[in-house]
Amino acid sequence: MRSHTCGELGSQHVGQMVELCGWAQNVRVLSDTLVFVKLRDAYGSVQLLTEHRRMPGFAEQKRQLELLSTDTLISVKGKVAMRPGDTAKGKSSTRDIEILVERVQILNQAKPLPFNPHVKANMPNEEVRLAHRYLDLRRPELQRNIRVRSKATMAIRQFMDDHGFVDIETPLLFKSTPEGAREFLVPTRASPGACYALPQSPQQFKQILMAAGFDRYYQIARCFRDEDLRADRQPEFTQVDMEMSFVTKEDIQQVMERLIQHVWSTVKNIQIDAPFRRMSFAEATRRFGSDKPDTRFGLEIVQIPQLSSETNIVAEALLITGGANIFSAKELTPFLELLRSNWGATGLTNITLLSRWLTNNGSSAGQEPTDRLKEILALLSAKSGDLLFVSERLSHITPANTTLGRLRTLAAKLLQEKGELIIPEDRFEFLWIEDFPLFTCEADSLQSQLSATHHPFTAPVSEDLPLLYSDPAKVRGQHYDLVLNGVELGGGSMRVHDPDVQQYIFEKVLHLSPRVRDSFSHLVAALGHGCPPHGGIALGLDRLIAVLTNSLSLRDVIAFPKSADGRDLFMHSPASASTARLENYGLQVCKNLPISTKEHK
Ligand code: AMO
Repeated sequence: MRSHTCGELGSQHVGQMVELCGWAQNVRVLSDTLVFVKLRDAYGSVQLLTEHRRMPGFAEQKRQLELLSTDTLISVKGKVAMRPGDTAKGKSSTRDIEILVERVQILNQAKPLPFNPHVKANMPNEEVRLAHRYLDLRRPELQRNIRVRSKATMAIRQFMDDHGFVDIETPLLFKSTPEGAREFLVPTRASPGACYALPQSPQQFKQILMAAGFDRYYQIARCFRDEDLRADRQPEFTQVDMEMSFVTKEDIQQVMERLIQHVWSTVKNIQIDAPFRRMSFAEATRRFGSDKPDTRFGLEIVQIPQLSSETNIVAEALLITGGANIFSAKELTPFLELLRSNWGATGLTNITLLSRWLTNNGSSAGQEPTDRLKEILALLSAKSGDLLFVSERLSHITPANTTLGRLRTLAAKLLQEKGELIIPEDRFEFLWIEDFPLFTCEADSLQSQLSATHHPFTAPVSEDLPLLYSDPAKVRGQHYDLVLNGVELGGGSMRVHDPDVQQYIFEKVLHLSPRVRDSFSHLVAALGHGCPPHGGIALGLDRLIAVLTNSLSLRDVIAFPKSADGRDLFMHSPASASTARLENYGLQVCKNLPISTKEHK
């Protein structure tokens, strides 16, 4: 249908007759004899110039062009000519040329669009855009993101293949096992009442592939998690998943570092230094209040053990120098809202916000500091005009993000918005977070019940193995998270390959019921039949692409994402199933069931 694409044309084509197809944008009727149209295809856009002297039947064509609605598809035939006026210096581009049109044909007249994807100023809200995703995908930003994704995925496949990894697909119809996140269940007519589960990751299959002797596995794998959604979470997402036999943690980290270097140089033409910096979980949470710290800026949390006489309390502070002068009382609202929503969730027992009496001119509104507060101010060298949060939290609860850590992230965002903090977008601070506690005591657990910090297959750090039998809460896991600028890009670990240790963890540490333990019997059997020592990692592909494209939401890097509340607004899914269809599966809808968080125990 076409001799060229719009994007490939340049001054080298001047004088040639070309045939193009694309979407018509910006029809401008300049006079009775002259019409300009911008023609766009997947590769770029070019200006069409339609003049009465070149075109037989111009009057009729002009009438048609005048009526063209935005994004009507047309095909044109015409001659390439230089555009009058200044041409871009250096490389020739479509901006240098125009097409002197001799024939126009309408391929598909577009009905009025629900919104115009080319007018940034009039963009409707995200719900409307998701409901018409094909239009939203015409936006240049989304076109670019999806193409970057394709390029990055190709680079990953190439790298993995070059390094001897075997691409192996694993089942999507899996079974329910308690790995961590909540699963989607899939009923089947074959056995009413029984369900498959969609995999939250191919974790068990990749370990079993090591038992099966594949040595190096990888897969660009679809994963499904029925959990609370956020901007950095989708219910259906993609992992670059890998597993290796006869390796150490350092071997796996090195492969990942090289893969990252390859992707950044292929996609962004940026050379990344390796090895990446390493930091323990304890240090990350102590200094930054987060297991995925953004280390591009300071605002570090300060421990103030002098403040607390009780050993089970951690006292710490976040000092924002000059903050009380930077933020007005109203602008402190987001901090207060964060405090309200975090209360209790992170083992927090007390927090003090010191701002108003610290302001230079707001002393009338505040009270004089007590002696205790004066002591804190002296300890932290806080001065008039600073903003200070002092927190006390229970030490036996080890949250991945403390309240102060969240306040630090929020402060950085708000300071950036006010131009008080500059974080360069092109600074990539990769970081390995290591030495996580293998088990975590949940904040809401009354009996100090332990759960696996990541998944129950992570191996203990070798020297901590004796503690597994005496004080499991103190055991560190051979787990590592790959963090970039405050985003958890990936996570992995060395695995338990001894069936007795695995069984002990299920039974004596996690106290899984016999029924749940039984759901892992296939894995324990595989470990006991000559399974090599092994480990692996999974990178979140969507998060990786979001970072590569500077996108704030995963929805901007997925062609057909789910909305913030987990719905497909274009396909209208999930949709209710009729009673008759449910009966085929032996199912019935019972409304208002209480949601249990401990469904697997
Ligand atoms: P984990 O659960 O840490 O590990 O997941 C690995 C990476 O996947 C990404 N990710 C997500 N991305 C988008 N939406 C989600 N809902 C979501 N959940 C996770 C993150 C995360 O770092 N089987 C183990 C890996 C292993 O041990 O080898 C696993 O899945 O970027």
